[in-house]
Amino acid sequence: MTWSIADVPDLSGRTALVTGASGGIGRETARVLAAYGAHVVLACRSAERGRAVAEWAGGSTEVLELDLASLDSVRRAAARVRDRHRRLDLLVNNAGVMFPSYRRTADGFEAHFGVNHLGHFALTGLLLDLMTGVPGSRVVTVGSLAHRAGFGRLDADRARSGAGRRSVTAYGRSKLANLLFARELRRRLTVAGAATLSLAAHPGLSPTALWHGDPPALLRPVVAAGMRWLAQPPEAAALPSLRAATDPRVPDGCLGPAQRFGCRGAPVPARSSRAARDTEVQARLWELSEELTGVRYAFASAPAPGEPAVGVCPVTGARG
Ligand SMILES: NC(=O)c1ccc[n+]([C@@H]2O[C@H](COP(=O)([O-])OP(=O)(O)OC[C@H]3O[C@@H](n4cnc5c(N)ncnc54)[C@H](OP(=O)(O)O)[C@@H]3O)[C@@H](O)[C@H]2O)c1
Repeated sequence: MTWSIADVPDLSGRTALVTGASGGIGRETARVLAAYGAHVVLACRSAERGRAVAEWAGGSTEVLELDLASLDSVRRAAARVRDRHRRLDLLVNNAGVMFPSYRRTADGFEAHFGVNHLGHFALTGLLLDLMTGVPGSRVVTVGSLAHRAGFGRLDADRARSGAGRRSVTAYGRSKLANLLFARELRRRLTVAGAATLSLAAHPGLSPTALWHGDPPALLRPVVAAGMRWLAQPPEAAALPSLRAATDPRVPDGCLGPAQRFGCRGAPVPARSSRAARDTEVQARLWELSEELTGVRYAFASAPAPGEPAVGVCPVTGARG
């Protein structure tokens, strides 16, 4: 049976955080979660754009300033969430850049890898203990069909390279990192017996501001043709993330559109590349990401029946 927006369950009492909620697919994801009753933290680079989305979306929302291109900003944002919320049900790692105007993040990382992967890796690690004891909680990380273009090693030199600004490979590598991260997180959560699921989703192709960057000249006609024949609006492109976040019978792995080479259509299980399924690379990327961000994960197990949930601070390991 085709999964549609009508299948989103009642989310009253749940708290969700969506990164990149200021536009495109993230804004639509946030709107639907709020419409179905969740309280939604709109994590945006610009508070002003966030407030405009809050007004547009309706429902229960709050704006959180978050710049994934700065680990200081990520730490500040996570601290603010922890001040305000004792639990988090859904974390949607959606924000992304492609062919941005800048080469490196504030911490000196290649822009795609720094924003799309490392920023989300750090944010998730700093918030995870608000989730691991919450039944039904989920981390959804948004990838892309472009992960298949993510060739080459993921190592510290490449993470700090300034050569990726207009590189399809660099964008692809960051999206491959998203999928590797989602799978490794899932594995570690399962081993820890945590209540949280980690899933990936990709939106297919959608004419959002993501494409307003500065792509290589050769790519422009291909993109224009692709948008005409293959793309779907953000409302449809948000469905894989929404299904991953809310479908109680969600299949393991990654969700993506069913039709036209995975570019549009209803959300169904999507195949990831062999590289994305490589468990050794998943583990290596995890170590590298901990080293580069300084955020070390500690996993709290799901409470046994009748036991209260115990949080473990991912930074200090303190229990409380
Ligand atoms: N559209 C597609 O065809 C397509 C295809 C495959 C995958 N995706 C993936 O889908 C996700 C959403 O993309 P989209 O198409 O909705 O693009 P979009 O309209 O450009 O939205 C991207 C969002 O990310 C935010 N963002 C960018 N840099 C950020 C930073 N440093 N810190 C925090 N937020 C930041 C943007 O905020 P600002 O408003 O401040 O710029 C915006 O809210 C991305 O992960 C993208 O890789 C999209």
